[in-house]
Amino acid sequence: DKAQIGVTGLAVMGRNLARNLARHGHAVAVHNRSPERTKALVEEFGHEGTFLPADTPEQFVASLERPRRVVIMVKAGAPTDAVIEEFAPLLEPGDMIIDAGNAHFADTRRREAALRERGLHFVGTGVSGGEEGALHGPSIMPGGSPESYEALGPLLEDISAKVDGTPCCTYVGPDGAGHFVKMVHNGIEYSDMQLIAEAYELLRHAGGMEPAQIAEVFRRWNTGRLESYLIEITAEVLAHTDAATGKPFVDAVVDQAEQKGTGRWTVQIALDLGVPVSGIAEAVFARSLSGHADLRDAARDLPGPRPSRVGDVDALVEDVEQALYASKIVAYAQGFNQIQAGSAEYGWNIDPGAMATIWRGGCIIRARFLDRIRAAYDADPDLPTLLVDDHFRDAVAGAQDSWRRVVATAAQSGIPVPGFSTALAYYDGLRAQRLPAALVQGQRDFFGAHTYRRVDRNGAFHTLWGGDRSEVSA
Ligand code: 6PG
Repeated sequence: DKAQIGVTGLAVMGRNLARNLARHGHAVAVHNRSPERTKALVEEFGHEGTFLPADTPEQFVASLERPRRVVIMVKAGAPTDAVIEEFAPLLEPGDMIIDAGNAHFADTRRREAALRERGLHFVGTGVSGGEEGALHGPSIMPGGSPESYEALGPLLEDISAKVDGTPCCTYVGPDGAGHFVKMVHNGIEYSDMQLIAEAYELLRHAGGMEPAQIAEVFRRWNTGRLESYLIEITAEVLAHTDAATGKPFVDAVVDQAEQKGTGRWTVQIALDLGVPVSGIAEAVFARSLSGHADLRDAARDLPGPRPSRVGDVDALVEDVEQALYASKIVAYAQGFNQIQAGSAEYGWNIDPGAMATIWRGGCIIRARFLDRIRAAYDADPDLPTLLVDDHFRDAVAGAQDSWRRVVATAAQSGIPVPGFSTALAYYDGLRAQRLPAALVQGQRDFFGAHTYRRVDRNGAFHTLWGGDRSEVSA
């Protein structure tokens, strides 16, 4: 008997995806470059379902029913190309290779085009949810041809997380669309994490609260509109005591945040597309700043206020909740705008509401309020920004006094809140009747004759700054 699908690359993510497939009753071919991992998987988890272990790519491919579905789960980058080159020559037209790693969508576009030439489908698929998600139900974001989704979609939907019975998996769009959406998911993840970290910082230093008390605050928030996986695990991390020192775990960890690159890609691509994802950018830069130990050592004694405790801690907690919700809305608004911009640029026709739907479960940014985002795009698929949707408009309107107080308190106490403040600046920037960009245009025209447009007439103009300062049509 043949396998319905195969997984090559059996590190923890690949192994867990294979187990998830097997647990759902699908026969799974499994292969790994070093066969010990394959053997270990079958020995340890063989009872969970039907695994067809293969020592060689040839044996692996031969054990798959047609069209063959080959999931590769290896390190993004050169290893992915190497594995594709190993397997593609063994496949036949109509077969598909599914890259479930965190590939850059531009690589996915290149690989998809090359394999299409050879008659093969290449499905670049975002998978979120970490190791646990891969095993128990991730959020899955598959790109590629619509035909490939017909053959593959039901299997992926079967093993994905479900919310209210709806799978957290849907066809995203052609070629690189799936990996693009996963990239923006990670950008939003960075932003969300940074905002939560800033909330903690404020409660700790302006509120004078201990990590365990802050954990309780997050637990409470997690029963309301902020309910989300990231808030939930934040409470767990803050409540944890370090066994070695008996101190809060968070005080035992070096305060330098690392990154593997997907957040940085989101910002790089946003710059190319001209989408102002300032919240995601600040989150990436905040991690970068934290990692510059030498710079921080050199600057540690710079003058400035030291945080002091506010008078009314309960009021601070309430304000921070509001600031967090408002800033989070901005982060998602920016991320969804980037998805729309990418979709327009590459002709992907991505349905933003469907992305909110498949992020409701399984993934790292799963959150109650994604239902609201879906509803917003259901009501108006061409919504220019989530901020103008009725629900979010009202939420931010209600939150903004608190939000402004929090940013002001932080500035006055010397507590860095780049995420909160950039989100507020974005909000105020969008709603401004006039921006000082007009002055910037004047400066550009002055030093470089770069021209400007007028509010009262069409066309491009230049002022003769070095001459009689009359205006000419450019
Ligand atoms: C997910 C995560 C996953 C991974 C991140 C971590 O959706 O399951 O986003 O992809 O944990 O890549 O990213 P950093 O190491 O860059 O923080």
